[in-house]
Amino acid sequence: MKKKIVLIGYMGSGKSTIGKALATIFKIPFIDLDSEIIKLEKKSIDNIFNESGELYFRKIEHECLKNILNTLDLSVISLGGGTPCYYDTIEILNSDDKVYTVFLKASINTLSERLFKEIKNRPKINHLKNKKLLTDFIRKHLFERNYYYNKSNYIINTDNKSVSKVASQIKSHLT
Ligand code: S3P
Repeated sequence: MKKKIVLIGYMGSGKSTIGKALATIFKIPFIDLDSEIIKLEKKSIDNIFNESGELYFRKIEHECLKNILNTLDLSVISLGGGTPCYYDTIEILNSDDKVYTVFLKASINTLSERLFKEIKNRPKINHLKNKKLLTDFIRKHLFERNYYYNKSNYIINTDNKSVSKVASQIKSHLT
């Protein structure tokens, strides 16, 4: 495996968990873009959204990713759910021959179940009052975002699969 693996997918699709598992399998570093932004800004994602707004967040998110891509060699990088949908990010990723983009696809139901439990700290969805509103929001949001997600080099269905199953399936696709 001679590429940086970049994990793409909606909030709650398992990017960080599967990213860590893949990094362990390949014995390469794992980088979580949200965590890098938190370190850089010394604030939670929620506070960045509240204090500086989403546009500011999207700008630093894009810059931070470009910086990681330019400085790091082999690694697994998990993006934020919105990262590939802003600026020319997905084109930058897919035109880089050292990058392999993987879309972790999960059903609206799976995402809704997972996200409802941790809705509080997520600035894009914390205003939604119940599961039905969350499910409707995800359905609409995914409809817009799937256009970008579907441009990934590899699309893997993760519903009803364990973390190790998803990781080993990505591995066998890569090697
Ligand atoms: C966002 C997803 C979050 C984080 C921010 C915005 C989004 O990342 O970047 O809250 O727009 O989907 P995760 O997908 O890692 O939760």
